[in-house]
Amino acid sequence: MKIAVFAGDGIGPEVTQQAVRVLQALDLPGLELVEGDVGGAAWRKHGHPLPEVTLEIARAADAILFGAVGDFACDHLERHLRPEQAILGLRKELGLFANLRPARVFPGLEGHSALRPEVAGAIDLLIVRELNGDVYFGDKGIRTLANGERQGWDLMAYSESEVRRIAHAGFKAARGRKGRLCSVDKANVLETSQVWRDVVTAVAAEYPDVELSHMYVDNAAMQLVKSPGQFDVVVTGNLFGDILSDQASMCVGSIGLLASASMAEGTKGLYEPIHGSAPDIAGQDKANPMATILSAAMLLRHSFGREAEAARIESAVAAALADGVFGGDLGGSYGTTAIGDAVLGKL
Ligand code: NAD
Ligand code: IPM
Ligand code: MN
Repeated sequence: MKIAVFAGDGIGPEVTQQAVRVLQALDLPGLELVEGDVGGAAWRKHGHPLPEVTLEIARAADAILFGAVGDFACDHLERHLRPEQAILGLRKELGLFANLRPARVFPGLEGHSALRPEVAGAIDLLIVRELNGDVYFGDKGIRTLANGERQGWDLMAYSESEVRRIAHAGFKAARGRKGRLCSVDKANVLETSQVWRDVVTAVAAEYPDVELSHMYVDNAAMQLVKSPGQFDVVVTGNLFGDILSDQASMCVGSIGLLASASMAEGTKGLYEPIHGSAPDIAGQDKANPMATILSAAMLLRHSFGREAEAARIESAVAAALADGVFGGDLGGSYGTTAIGDAVLGKL
C-alpha cells in the first residue's frame, strides 16, 4: 500500500497530519507513506509547484493523499508557476477525470447546516465532477484589443469522448446508490453543454435501471438550497462541479467536512478535501481535519477495496461529531489536533 502524501500549503500540512495519524492507527499491512512537495511550498524549494520528483512519487504510488495548495504570496507568478497548478497538473498527468464529492448530513448535525434542519436532514448526494476538461484546460490567454484594453479569454470545450467517460462514471455511481442521475449543464446557452447533454442522453440507453434528468446549472444551484434531498447523483462539468460542491458543503454544515476522490480508469486515485489552503486560519490549529480524514477513508475504499476500514473511519468521524467535537467552522472550540485526537479515540 504505497501512498504518496502531498500536504501542500496553508492548512494542508495540518489537516493531512491528522489523516496520516488515522491511517497509521489502522495497522494496515504493507502501508508505506512517501511525502512529496506540492504548491507554493514546492515552488519555494524546487522553483516549480509540481516538480518532476513529486510527479515521480505520484506515478509510483498506488494512491495519493493531498492536503491543499494555494498561497497568496504566489499570486504574482506566471500562471504555470502558481501553486494551484500542482493539483491541476496531477489531475491531468494522472488522467484523474472523475471527481467524486459526496455530501451528506451527519446525524445530529442538521442544526449546523446553513439550511433549515428539516431541509438539511434529507441531504445524501454525490457530485460526480469531470476533472480533466472544460474551461479549466482549454486554451487561454490575455490579449490586447485594438483599443488598447486587455482581454482575458478561456476556451470552454468538451469532446464527446470526454463527456462519455464521465457520464459512465455518473451512471455507474447512480446504479450503486438510489438509481437517480441528474446531469447539470447550461445547454440553453452553451454549445459545450449541448454536446454534453446529447452524449449523456445517448449513454443513458445503456443504463435503463437509472433514471436520468437534466437541469440547468442556475436552477441546480437554487434547487440545491430549496430541496437538496431530491438529488442522488449529480454529474456535471469541471467548473459547475467546483462551484456546486462548495455550495453543497454549506448545506451539510461546513466545507471542513467534504471529502473527495479523483479517479482515473482503474483504482489509482488522488484523495483530498474539497477545501483549499485557507490562509486566513493557517498555522493556528483552527482547521477542521475531518474532510481530509474522510478523504483517507475514500482512499482505502476506492484504491484498496478496504471497505471495512473506510467505514470504521467514517463511523469514528460521525461518532466524534455526535459527541459535539466541533471546530470553529461548526461553532465549536476544538482545534485541529484535538479533533484528530477525538477521531482516533473513537476509532
Ligand atoms: P478555502 O477553501 O481555502 O477557504 C474558504 C473559507 O473556508 C475560508 O474562510 C477558510 O478559512 C474556510 N475553510 C476552508 N477549509 C477549512 C477547514 N478545513 N476548516 C475550517 N475552515 C475552513 O478557499 P479560498 O479562500 O477561496 O482559497 C484559498 C486558497 O486555496 C487559494 O489559493 C485557492 O486557489 C486554494 N484552493 C486550493 C484547493 C485545492 O488545493 N484543491 C481548493 C480550493 C482552493
Ligand atoms: C478544488 C479547487 C481547485 C479547482 C483549484 C485550486 C484549482 O477549487 O479542488 O475544488 O478549481 O478544481
Ligand atoms: Mn473548489
